[in-house]
Amino acid sequence: MPITTETPSNADQLPALHQPIHKALQHHYQTLCDVHLRELFAAEPQRFEHFSLQVDDLLLDYSKNRITKETLQLLIQLAETADVAGWRERMFQGEKINNTEQRAVLHTALRNRSNTPVMVDGENVMPAVNAVIEQMSAFAERVRSGTWTGYTGKPIVDVVNVGIGGSDLGPHMVYQALKAYRHPRLQMHYVSNVDGAHIVEKLESLDPETTLFIVASKTFTTQETMTNAHHARHWFLQHAEDDTHIAKHFVAVSTNREAVIGFGIDPDNMFGFWDWVGGRYSLWSAIGLSIVLAVGADNFTALLGGAHTMDQHFREAPFERNMPVILALLGVWYSNFFGAESQAVLPYDHYLRSLPLYLQQADMESNGKSVDRNGCNVDYATGPIIWGTSGINGQHAFYQLIHQGTRLIPADFIISVTPPTGLHEQHDILMANFLAQTEALMRGRTLEETRDSGVAPPHAPKVFAGNHPSNALLLKALTPHSLGLLIALYEHKIFVQGIIWNLNSYDQWGVELGKQLAKCIQPELNAAETITTHDASTNGLINYYRQQRAQ
Ligand code: F6P
Repeated sequence: MPITTETPSNADQLPALHQPIHKALQHHYQTLCDVHLRELFAAEPQRFEHFSLQVDDLLLDYSKNRITKETLQLLIQLAETADVAGWRERMFQGEKINNTEQRAVLHTALRNRSNTPVMVDGENVMPAVNAVIEQMSAFAERVRSGTWTGYTGKPIVDVVNVGIGGSDLGPHMVYQALKAYRHPRLQMHYVSNVDGAHIVEKLESLDPETTLFIVASKTFTTQETMTNAHHARHWFLQHAEDDTHIAKHFVAVSTNREAVIGFGIDPDNMFGFWDWVGGRYSLWSAIGLSIVLAVGADNFTALLGGAHTMDQHFREAPFERNMPVILALLGVWYSNFFGAESQAVLPYDHYLRSLPLYLQQADMESNGKSVDRNGCNVDYATGPIIWGTSGINGQHAFYQLIHQGTRLIPADFIISVTPPTGLHEQHDILMANFLAQTEALMRGRTLEETRDSGVAPPHAPKVFAGNHPSNALLLKALTPHSLGLLIALYEHKIFVQGIIWNLNSYDQWGVELGKQLAKCIQPELNAAETITTHDASTNGLINYYRQQRAQ
């Protein structure tokens, strides 16, 4: 029986990829798909100047892409057809563009350093945003200075953020990225997995007298987080014995005040945010509390400031000089015309090693959708598979496939000009590899070049086709400000792609089904009778698990 979803008519709102511009792009693709990047560089020596742009501390070189000026013009027409500018304004102005949940999408208000009013339902949200930033800063100052102490009077040494998805990946990634700015006494830890091994292993090394837990959950109902939070509380009380001590060791970040109180956390120790902050866009909100604790309020403000600079650029720059728009259009070019299925993110920076993980949620939970914002099935590719790891390690693992495999894998290479370590010689090695990889991917190596370079024997496996596209992103240095620029760049890229694909990038119904089924299955794992209510595979696995566990 085929699975069908209802497809209401949306003829009045044709997605851009169903409009004449799509045909024009398809036609243009036919003229370009067999042209090698070497030819493009040979024909246009000024390619770097023509296809690179800088926003503040961030340089994007996109000249090693399979595009010409005409490609860009056509892609910009696609963005215009999709009304990216109109949607962008609707987002910034607090319209409820998350239509399935009837919510505004305002992570930009969280870092609105110009403090201009942002209205939601007739109310300016900025005073509330600023009040939470102040609350976080004041709390962080107490913890960092040592005036906030644990129940035995000792300063806090370890902070455990208990959260998952957007309540984990963002703050975790930023904490790692800004390690060089960390308070010398304070160590952050992140526990997300409901597999007990994660929290058990973490708690083994911690002292309850000097440990602070942040229970971070937008809903405060997420099973993984609440299970881990209860385990942490139990562990703490085994040592502290008196639950009045909880106030000094547990704080909450959530939109759900009742549930926080129900858990036993003092509402004075709750840091709030709002339903118009999506989980995967929430590191700028109170979900970033562990960041403020680690690097201090000034650095957190600098992070917000970097993102705000990118917001302003995104809002004001013409499309042909607009970094998020250009990155988004390149992604659409490869996904919808070249048939690329994935996008690699390759930071040449140990501190940015979690960026691909973070972007997996940001991008794939946002645009991993086959139904558009009107509820219609789409007939074109949407969000790509995002993957990657620290680039230099990747070179020794999966780059072979990028260079010589059968798939087209566009890749973003990211590096800082100045290393945070001061180890310049090592950094030059890193930089040389960064440059060599993008060059090799672009140029490849012909049979003649293989022969000339003395590689013997000069046979086919030593020839590289090249013509693999990449972007190079260079930060002046990995600072709170430049990190803010970089993250906001990707957020807006995802936004633009969502608009072109006619998606609501801000809901995530796809993750709900599995959660609901898990709730049904959990009691069945302990039921007395043999389970027969599922399909044969699921029944078989449940019953096997129960049998084996009983032995
Ligand atoms: O994975 C689904 C999801 O709802 C994410 O969107 C979210 O970031 C995560 O779960 C955690 O949710 P919460 O912050 O409510 O615990």
